[in-house]
Amino acid sequence: MAVIEKKPVKIVETVLRDAHQSLLATRMSTEQMLPIIEKMDQVGFYAVECWGGATFDASLRFLKEDPWERLRKLRASFKNTKLQMLFRGQNILGYNHYADDVVEYFVQKSVANGIDIIRIFDCLNDIRNLRTAVKATKKEKGHAQIALSYTLGDAYTLDYWKNIAREIEEMGADSLCIKDMAGLLTPYNADELVKALKEGTKLPIDLHTHYTSGVASMTYLKAVEAGCDIIDCAMSPLALGTSQPATEVMVETFRGTPFDTGYDQTKLAEIADYFTPIREKALKDGLLNPKVLGVNIKTLQYQVPGGMLSNLVSQLKEAGKEDKYREVLEEIPRVRKDFGEPPLVTPSSQIVGTQAVMNVLAGERYKMVPKESKKIMMGEFGQTVKPFNPEVQKKIIGDATPITCRPADLIPPQLPQFEKECAQWKQQDEDVLSYALFPAVAKDFFEYREAQQTKVDPKKADKENKVYPV
Ligand code: CO
Repeated sequence: MAVIEKKPVKIVETVLRDAHQSLLATRMSTEQMLPIIEKMDQVGFYAVECWGGATFDASLRFLKEDPWERLRKLRASFKNTKLQMLFRGQNILGYNHYADDVVEYFVQKSVANGIDIIRIFDCLNDIRNLRTAVKATKKEKGHAQIALSYTLGDAYTLDYWKNIAREIEEMGADSLCIKDMAGLLTPYNADELVKALKEGTKLPIDLHTHYTSGVASMTYLKAVEAGCDIIDCAMSPLALGTSQPATEVMVETFRGTPFDTGYDQTKLAEIADYFTPIREKALKDGLLNPKVLGVNIKTLQYQVPGGMLSNLVSQLKEAGKEDKYREVLEEIPRVRKDFGEPPLVTPSSQIVGTQAVMNVLAGERYKMVPKESKKIMMGEFGQTVKPFNPEVQKKIIGDATPITCRPADLIPPQLPQFEKECAQWKQQDEDVLSYALFPAVAKDFFEYREAQQTKVDPKKADKENKVYPV
C-alpha cells in the first residue's frame, strides 16, 4: 500500500486585519482584540495577519489609536504565533510612491515592533516596486512574502504567472502569495495555477482570496490538493461575504486527510464565541451591511473587487447619478484596457474606477482626468503588463515624456523633511512614519494624543496653562 505523505495545510488567520477591513470598515479596536489573543495563540496558526493594509489609517483616523502601540500590544500577547502585515510595496500603506529611505525605515520599525512576515505587493505587479521592501525585510531578518495581485486578461497566462514566480524567487522572497482580492480565482483555475507556479518556483505558496463570488472554499480545496501550502482564512463570525472562507470550515474539510491541520475545534469554537457578539453588534449598528455577506456574482462578471463596487456606488450617489451604475461597470474594463490592463487593487482600483465614473459622467471619455490617471500614464506608478492605449495616453499627458525607470529612482530621500515637519509632535521614532504616510490624519492624532495626556497629567496641564473640559 502506498504511504500517503502528511502535508498539513498552514492557515493564516485574518480576523484581526483583512476580515474586519472587509466587513467592519476596519473598525475593530485594540481593546476588542486583546482579550482573545491568549486563546488564538494556542491554536497553532501559521501566522496571524493583524497589521498593515487599511488598519494603520483607520486606527489613526477613526479609532484615535496609535497603530504602533497596537502592534506592540499584539506582539506582547502573541507569544507563539507569527505576526503578519500587508505592505503595498513602494506605496508602503499609502497611495503614492515613497522614497527608498521611507520604505526601509518603515520595514525596520515594523519588524522592530513585532512583525515577522511582511506580505509585499504592487498594484501593477511591477516587481521593481517590490525590491526595496524585500531587501529591507531580509536585512531586518523578517520573512519577505511577495504577493502577486491576481487578475484576468489576455496578458495573464499561466506562463506569465510561472515566469513572474521565478523572478520573485530570484529576488530573494521567502514565499509567494497569490492575492486574489476580488475572488476571481475559480476552483479548477486554482488547480492549474498552483501547478504552474510549482513548476516555476520552489517557494511555499500561499493563497489569499475573498468569498465575494461564492467560490472561495472550493478554490482553497482544489488549490491545496494541487500543492498550495498556506491558505488565508477568517474565524467564522467574520468570514464569508467580502471576507475570507471560514477557518473552522477549512479545518474540518481537511480533517483526516494528509492536509489535516490538527487544530482543536473546541478551541476554535471558543474563539468564534468571542467574535460572535462583535458581529452581532456590528449588524445591529449598521457597521456590517448584510448586503456584503451574500454572494455577489457581478464580481465575476465585471472582475471588480467588492470594495471597489461599493466605492462606485457611493461616488455615483454623491453625484446624484446612481442610474449610471451599469454604464460605469461597463466602462471599467475599457478604462482598464486603455491603462495597460492592470490588476484592480489599491490604488489602481481607485484610479481606474474614478476614471470610469468621470468618463461616464462627463459624457466624453477622458475629458475629465484626475491627477492619478495622469500619473499612471506618465509611468509614475510603474510598468503595466500591456502597453497603454497610445491615443488615450496622448489625450491625457499630451507631449510629455513618460518615465520608464522604477518610479522611486526619481524620488530623493524624504525622511529628513518629514522629521522636520513633525518634530513638534514627535514622542517616538515611529511618529515620523505615521506622519509620512498620512500627514493630516497623523497631525490630528498627535494633537488628540497631547490633549489626552495633558488631561490625565495635571502638572503638564499646569505648565502649558491649558484647560481641557473633562
Ligand atoms: Co484581502
